[in-house]
Amino acid sequence: MMKEAYSFSFDVYESEDELNATDAALVKQARAISEQAYAPYSKFFVGAAALMDNGSIITGTNQENASYPVTLCAERALMAAAASVYPNIGIKTMAISYHNHNKNTNSNTPISPCGMCRQSLVEFETRHHVMRLILTGLSGKIYVIPEAGQLLPLSFKGENLRM
Ligand code: THU
Repeated sequence: MMKEAYSFSFDVYESEDELNATDAALVKQARAISEQAYAPYSKFFVGAAALMDNGSIITGTNQENASYPVTLCAERALMAAAASVYPNIGIKTMAISYHNHNKNTNSNTPISPCGMCRQSLVEFETRHHVMRLILTGLSGKIYVIPEAGQLLPLSFKGENLRM
């Protein structure tokens, strides 16, 4: 028997003021687009903005449903839109933000993609190349993850279907 270990490192910024101009602009767009989410049930408004290899910016928001499990997260809404418009173009960086409209919340802690989105992010990376993630809220600390797939070690991939 032997042991294997997995670890990764990411950057933590105190605020958007420490980011370069490109990343700061993406954060601004993710924060702004979150207000366009359709989240009447959770009131948790998520926005994502991605810079693609061709320079285009694509955005996404969570789309909830009265049948709760039908809900689409902002990240997957964004990837579906990006892949529909530009099927052969990768995403360099995706910024994810949110505004919790519930009372007594301040949306100042970064959120991280849910498990289903992590699986979807890995597939997108496999189709193209690695994607940086910028995780943020309306204010406060910002995490920059170098590769989305780092959030889902030992992930299940298409290649496993051929083994
Ligand atoms: N949600 C996202 O859109 N992205 C995430 O990374 C976490 C959760 C949405 C799903 C649901 O509409 C609401 O946030 C509360 O879970």
